[in-house]
Amino acid sequence: MTILGIETSCDETAAAIVSNDNKRIQILSNIISSSQDLHIKYGGILPETAAREQQKMIIPVIQEALLQSKCNPEDIDAIAVTAGPGLIGSLLVGVETAKTLSLLWRKPLIPVNHLLAHFYANWVLDTPTFPVIGLLVSGGHTDIILMKDHDNYDYLGGTRDDAAGECFDKCARLLGLPSGGPNLARLAQKGNPQAFNLPRPMWNSKDYDFSFSGLKTAVANIITHIDELQKPDLAASIEQAIIDVLIKKTTTAALDNNIEHVMLAGGVASNQRLRESVTRSFIGRVFTPEPLLCTDNAVTTATYALFHNHPVDPLILQANPNLSLA
Ligand code: KG4
Ligand code: ZN
Repeated sequence: MTILGIETSCDETAAAIVSNDNKRIQILSNIISSSQDLHIKYGGILPETAAREQQKMIIPVIQEALLQSKCNPEDIDAIAVTAGPGLIGSLLVGVETAKTLSLLWRKPLIPVNHLLAHFYANWVLDTPTFPVIGLLVSGGHTDIILMKDHDNYDYLGGTRDDAAGECFDKCARLLGLPSGGPNLARLAQKGNPQAFNLPRPMWNSKDYDFSFSGLKTAVANIITHIDELQKPDLAASIEQAIIDVLIKKTTTAALDNNIEHVMLAGGVASNQRLRESVTRSFIGRVFTPEPLLCTDNAVTTATYALFHNHPVDPLILQANPNLSLA
């Protein structure tokens, strides 16, 4: 099968063509256009600006995906599109374009939950072993699931306030960095992760839930008392506090449910220290996606559809900003 994936849940406009002919998954093209630069000076994403850029970019991005893959519309077997969750204006651009192309080209339309699609970054180059504990750490979500099969998972827990990526982003801003997680991680490389004693929220709670807003408040209180030279130490301590909590909850979920294998997903899964720490913490296999496939892209959207070929009527599909894993 050859699938055109379309993803517009946040500030990216992405299209990709993925095929599983010859038994392995092949990325024929992977195009991503981001409006991130337009939002930087505001310290967060402006939904209307994101959606307006996506309206401009969606057709050129799909055209480029077809061109690079050397595919014509006739070569596409189905169209997969992020149906939610995400920003409603952004989702609408992708969903309405996919519906139109599905009718025009007479191709089946497969709706995709963006959160599950993040996990499918693991299936592009590898094949996770079921049952597996999945930890999703993105800009908007932090969730733990127990996946027994492609169509069967249990939701175990998630964040009660900020997501792990959001905590990275907000702390980066407090440190005066131009943008989020990757910059904080870079600064942290030069610091001592034990330098500051930061809280590990919900460490002793018996559930698999997280809370990161207290950590951000602790950093806001410290930042006023330190000088420039201590910033790498603070960045390293923030990174370590987030990683410690993520590992503690994931380990507990794995032990309680007798599961050996773990997979990471979402933008924060590209964090090198997190990847190394999780890999050291488990005896079973730890699956970590290719860093470029951790953040938002349409390859994972199309790959999800390869394993969930459940088309819907294009006339009735609606974007759902509140889709969740729970
Ligand atoms: O999955 P994603 O692209 O977007 C959502 O669907 O939310 O994740 C983006 C998040 C941002 O919060 C970004 O700061 C974080 O992933 N991120 C990182 C790293 N790379 C991206 N956080 C920590 N370390 C990184 N290397
Ligand atoms: Zn995402």
